[in-house]
Amino acid sequence: MNIVVCKDYEEMSLRAAHMVAAQVKEKPNSVLGLATGSTPEGLYADLIEMYKKGEVSFKNVTSVNLDEYYPIAPTNDQSYRYFMNTKFFDHVDIDKANTNVPDGTAADPVAESKRYEQLVTDLGGIDLQILGIGRNGHIGFNEPDTKLMLDTHVTALTESTIEANARFFASANDVPRKALTMGMGSIFKARKIIVMASGSSKKGAVSAMLERSVDTNFPATMLNFHPDVTLICTADVLD
Ligand code: GLP
Repeated sequence: MNIVVCKDYEEMSLRAAHMVAAQVKEKPNSVLGLATGSTPEGLYADLIEMYKKGEVSFKNVTSVNLDEYYPIAPTNDQSYRYFMNTKFFDHVDIDKANTNVPDGTAADPVAESKRYEQLVTDLGGIDLQILGIGRNGHIGFNEPDTKLMLDTHVTALTESTIEANARFFASANDVPRKALTMGMGSIFKARKIIVMASGSSKKGAVSAMLERSVDTNFPATMLNFHPDVTLICTADVLD
């Protein structure tokens, strides 16, 4: 795993933005795997700035997001579709028809998971995947468990994740109890992965990942198996 240590959140965001822009310049029709959460917000803001300056175009890019709550409407301001539209897609030249987020309104979530997995396969896999890390080591919504799923699937959120994400909702009771998420296999199809982590709350998750042992109860540790992962983190994560 390559490690890039940054002095602060701003530098972390900018370093990641430069890597995404470089990928898109090299391959304008890249498939980008995108993540939500507070960690990549600065990355999206920087990419918007670069786009406005004419430094990068997303015109031919296709995106696939990692996950979505279930059930949730795309108009709900806590849905990941809403997050992506308002924090990134609405501000750049990406064709919305080429942006993909699992459908939190699907009547049949199992069928939706299959459709999404097939979509990632049909796209030929992901060129560059952005990841954050949950405090409990989750990746996307692949929660700690004795078994990790390879394909996109419906999952129950753990109490720790519901609690961590409650800050975005009116109360913990409003956090959906389920989600649709790419599986570890879907994520591992990505040719290149950037993991972003900022702040001392991610210390435990990052140190477990860097121990170089693999534990399904800490899904981020699986990333040690992937041949091209770059961790971009703030210095306090490694203190
Ligand atoms: C959420 C998302 C993850 C994200 C993680 C960390 O639950 N499903 O994709 O990486 O939690 O979020 P944050 O960046 O806000 O700490």
